[in-house]
Amino acid sequence: MAVDRISKARPFLAWTARMWSAIALTMLVGGCLVLQRRSGSLPSARTPIDAVGRQERAECGREEGNKGYLPPCPATPPGLQGKLEVREDISLEETVKELADGVRVGGSWSPPQCLPRWKIAIIVPFRDRQSQVGPFLYHMHKFLQRQQLNYTIYIVEQEGTDLFNRARLLNVGYLQALTDGPFDCYAFHDIDMLPEDDRHLYHCSPQPRHLAVAASNQNYRSSHSLAYNKYFGGACLMTQEHLARVNGWSNIYWGWGGEDDDMWRRLSFENIPVWRFPASVARYKTIKHDPQTVNKKRYQTLQRNTGRYPHDGLSTIKYVIKSRVSHPLYTYILANIGTPPKPLT
Ligand code: BGC
Repeated sequence: MAVDRISKARPFLAWTARMWSAIALTMLVGGCLVLQRRSGSLPSARTPIDAVGRQERAECGREEGNKGYLPPCPATPPGLQGKLEVREDISLEETVKELADGVRVGGSWSPPQCLPRWKIAIIVPFRDRQSQVGPFLYHMHKFLQRQQLNYTIYIVEQEGTDLFNRARLLNVGYLQALTDGPFDCYAFHDIDMLPEDDRHLYHCSPQPRHLAVAASNQNYRSSHSLAYNKYFGGACLMTQEHLARVNGWSNIYWGWGGEDDDMWRRLSFENIPVWRFPASVARYKTIKHDPQTVNKKRYQTLQRNTGRYPHDGLSTIKYVIKSRVSHPLYTYILANIGTPPKPLT
């Protein structure tokens, strides 16, 4: 009887054991997938070193003599002109007519004759500056092409008429670019800042770079020599790794000013030093425009940043993409980025 019971129970025991191992396996695999997903939600940081690796890997498959072989682009781009003229008067229509042929819809380009060293996203916060779009695109496409970069230009517009929030637009532009990327680095670039010398190379590097060192609206006084040497505005270059470490830009600066100072602080908290090219090369012509509403509370807000950045930035931004359109020379993104608190804090 007892034997009979055991022999009857045996298939049941075996089935239970199989069930448990199946459950355990499912949990293990599921867990791995979840973990993978989580770490995949922000693609892993890519440093310029990775970029070189990418290039080397790409070269492996493209040996000389093979169809499609491209030699690596030289470290110093051969077609640089040095000092540049800035055309402030060119319209978007003329710019499209002249440049659209070589550029992919959405504003991407890659040198046809060599394998570019860097893939870079140019992110431009925007509102009410229609007349500056033509001059910016005309200048920047030519500038970046002479530097033999693989690049895409994103213009990110803030919906509505609330106070401008440059930093939120930079966060949105960055997150949108990531969906097309990753890129080796990201240039956060005002539309009214046009580089005046193409030896000012937009190459990615292990440190963030402040680009807009000397600008015409400051009589070309350099940020090196100014008492205010923490200036990080106008245009800068950062990698995904830098942005992950500082949680991107702060979301709480409404109106003109402060968000770039806040980024400087974030970088200092993380002990990430910023570097610059010499002012003789890192020169910018600023296109004139109406002044924006200044954020008078920006220094108070800044003082409160004693390390709050893990709770204010890419991890907390809320936005809605209202439209995303690939134009002949740029990707246009219209975003609702929320409204400022009243009164401003
Ligand atoms: C502002 C910065 C700006 C700098 C230079 C500071 O007062 O807070 O946002 O970049 O001035 O114009």
